[in-house]
Amino acid sequence: SRNIRLAVIPGDGIGVEVVTEGLKVLEAVGTKVETTTYDLGAKRYHETGETLPDTVLEELRGYDAILLGAVGDPSVPPGVLERDLLLKLRFQLDHYVNLRPVKLFPGVETPLGKARPEDIDMIVVREGTEGPYAGAGGVMRRGTPQEIATQESLNTAYGVERVVRYAFDKAQGRPRRKLTLVHKTNVLTYAGDLWARTFDRVGLEYPDVQTDYCHVDAASMFFVSQPERFDVIVTDNLFGDILTDIGAAIAGGIGLAASGNVNPDRTAPSMFEPVHGSAPDIAGQGKADPTATILSVAMLLDHLGLAAEAARVEQAVADDLVERPAGRVGRTTREIGDDITARVAG
Ligand code: NAD
Ligand code: IPM
Ligand code: MN
Repeated sequence: SRNIRLAVIPGDGIGVEVVTEGLKVLEAVGTKVETTTYDLGAKRYHETGETLPDTVLEELRGYDAILLGAVGDPSVPPGVLERDLLLKLRFQLDHYVNLRPVKLFPGVETPLGKARPEDIDMIVVREGTEGPYAGAGGVMRRGTPQEIATQESLNTAYGVERVVRYAFDKAQGRPRRKLTLVHKTNVLTYAGDLWARTFDRVGLEYPDVQTDYCHVDAASMFFVSQPERFDVIVTDNLFGDILTDIGAAIAGGIGLAASGNVNPDRTAPSMFEPVHGSAPDIAGQGKADPTATILSVAMLLDHLGLAAEAARVEQAVADDLVERPAGRVGRTTREIGDDITARVAG
């Protein structure tokens, strides 16, 4: 089979450290991969003022997939790298599905004391190209007591329908076949109405899928009190961002949470990355857990049709996780990467 052509954007902070381990595991899988690294992030921004040049964006379109570490740095004003690099990639490459599994692996400690792996096993389908992230809004009289700042949520019939449809397909393919819409229809009446009507209408085409609705505040509570309520969730870009950090916490921590920014129509490469950020507080110390990135590599393999290879990586992670409570704590980023790599190489 053909080489996988992979673009790698390590980014900032621990992004660089965790991507190194992700690539080690990918290599151990034995699939032929040709990687090209892009130095996008804080350093390039400081040196050249560039975040994501158009020429680089066009080049990235030519790859089979992208692996990203994290972007964002305290030396760069908030939003510069997040909006002009990360969100630009998600928007321009039409990553309208931000796929975020929330899954408790056996042996992993959860703050929800009694929860078992079968209680925390969901997939959050977070919309990736619209909502409050679209950048609509503005500011008037900035810096004065009369300042007015607006930040609007953009929701299109086209954008909502395609992500809802994807979520129904996803739910249909899982044993429980349950899909929950999470929104805030009691307050965000315009956007909520579009989401709810779309959800109900598309749902008619999926009679086998059991549907449910939850306001986002209640959903946040149920993540902690009754996570077993959820199978597949479909939600807005911002609600999905917040819910999946809660999801990461209940499933063993942000160091384990993987994600895929997926373009299901395959008109551009999909991009896989840990849910976490650049973690400036621990960067450069070898303390970052690379597991989230390694699980993102498994999602990448799965997306490229390499299901058996993806399963091998996920199993290696599962085996490593089972042994962690038994004294295998305190490993460095590289040691965790080496241990999982060894299991994959088998
Ligand atoms: P963060 O996820 O970087 O860190 C939150 C906390 O989790 C920190 O205490 C950190 O040490 C810890 N943590 C994160 N990843 C970890 C790992 N793999 N192993 C162990 N501990 C880990 O979130 P933040 O502090 O809110 O943001 C820091 C920067 O990252 C900001 O610039 C933010 O914009 C950016 N960010 C980027 C992405 C991304 O690139 N996708 C995602 C989130 C945040
Ligand atoms: C994430 C991050 C990003 C988001 C930021 C850095 C733009 O928090 O990937 O979850 O809000 O989507
Ligand atoms: Mn986030």
